[in-house]
Amino acid sequence: MTRRILLGVCGGIAAYKAADLTSFLVQRGDEVTVIMTAEAEQFVGALTFAALTRRHVYASLWDAPESIPHISLVREADVLAVVPATANVIAKFAQGIADDLLTNAALAARIPMVVAPAMNEAMYEHPATRENIRLIESRGVTIVEPEIGFLAEREFGVGRLAAQPALVAAIDAVFERKRDLEGERVLITAGPTREAIDPVRFLSNASTGTMGIELAREALLRGGEVDLILGPTTVAPPRGARVVRVTSAQEMYEAAMARFVGADVAIASAAVADWRPNKSSLQKVKKGDGPSLLALERTPDILASLGERRSGAFLVGFAAETEKFEEYAREKLRSKHLDAIAVNDVRNAGIGFGTGDNDVVMLWGEAGRRELGRASKRTLARRLWDTLLEIRRSRA
Ligand code: C5P
Repeated sequence: MTRRILLGVCGGIAAYKAADLTSFLVQRGDEVTVIMTAEAEQFVGALTFAALTRRHVYASLWDAPESIPHISLVREADVLAVVPATANVIAKFAQGIADDLLTNAALAARIPMVVAPAMNEAMYEHPATRENIRLIESRGVTIVEPEIGFLAEREFGVGRLAAQPALVAAIDAVFERKRDLEGERVLITAGPTREAIDPVRFLSNASTGTMGIELAREALLRGGEVDLILGPTTVAPPRGARVVRVTSAQEMYEAAMARFVGADVAIASAAVADWRPNKSSLQKVKKGDGPSLLALERTPDILASLGERRSGAFLVGFAAETEKFEEYAREKLRSKHLDAIAVNDVRNAGIGFGTGDNDVVMLWGEAGRRELGRASKRTLARRLWDTLLEIRRSRA
C-alpha cells in the first residue's frame, strides 16, 4: 500500500532539506503532498516541491478552497510530518492557533504527527519552546530532536534539523505501529491516590502516573478504546482516552469497578495508597488539636477485586519494590490472580517514580520472565504492550 505523507514545510533555512527528504520519499514510492507556510516560500519555491512530488503544492487556505484543503488533506494522508518546524509553528500547535493552512490542517488532524524542530539554539532552549514541545509531545506528537551542529548563524549549537535517516525513521515508525488493540477495551489505573486527614492534608506517594499515561497513549495508538482512571497528577493524559479523575483509593476503586465491565485488558499501574486515616476531619485540624498518632485503616485493593470478579479480561499488575522484587511480585501475581505483573526496582533515584526512566521486568505464569530493560516510560510502554499481547496470544 502506498504511504500517504502530508509534509508541512515551515520557514527556516532547513526548508531546503525538506526538498531532499521529499525526493527520497517519492523515489521509494511514497505519495507526498506538501503544504508550505508563507515563510517557507521565502526560502524555497513551491515549484521545487511540485516538480518533486508531481502534485499540487498547497500554500494557502484560499488555494482550491472548494476542496476544503485543511480538512481533506489530513483525511487523505496517513501521517502529517512537519519538517522543519519553527518555534512559531510549534507554539501555534501547542496553543491550537490556526491562522494558515498548515496550522489549520494540524488542528484538524486525527492522524499521527511527526514534528522536526529546527531553529537557532537560543530559540530552541527558550522555556516557552521547551514547554511547547513538551506539551505537543504529551499529546502524542513524535518529536524528532534537532542535532547539535553548525547553525546558520555560523556557530555551533543545538537546533540543526535532524539528519534525514532520523526523519525517515520517525515517519516509518508511524506505519510500523501495530493496530493490535483494534476493537478492544482497555482499562488502566494510574497515578497516586490521596487519603484525606482533613480538607488540606493527606497521605500520598511520589507517583506521577506517567507509566500508566504512556500505556494509555500506546494503547490508543494501537487502536484500543481506553478508560484511564487517573489519580491526582499534573502530567497530561493522552488525547482520546476517556479519563476519570479521582482523588482517593475509594473513588478509584468505584470508578475502576464501574469501567471494568466488558474490558478486554485491565492494567493497574496506579500507586494506590495502602492505608488511609480511619477518620478524616471535615474542618482543618488546628495545630494544637492535632493527633499525635494517626489511626489508619486499609484501603480497598482495586486490583485484587478486579481479579476476583474478572470474566475473561487479561489482568496486569505493577509492583514497585525496594527489595526481593521478583519474589514479592510472584506472590502478588498468584494472590491477586493476575495474568502478568510488571516489576520495577525503585531502589535507585531516577528510576520508577516520577517522569524519568523506568526499568521493568515482566513476570507471568509459573516461570515466565522477560527483562524489558531500562528506557523512557514511552519506550517501555511499547515493549510492555508487545510483551502482554504476546503472552495473551501464547495462552489462546
Ligand atoms: O500495593 P501493591 O504492591 O500490592 O500493588 C500491586 C498492584 O496492585 C499494582 O498494580 C497496584 O496498582 C495494585 N493495587 C490496587 N489497589 C490497591 C493496592 C494496589 O489496585 N489498593
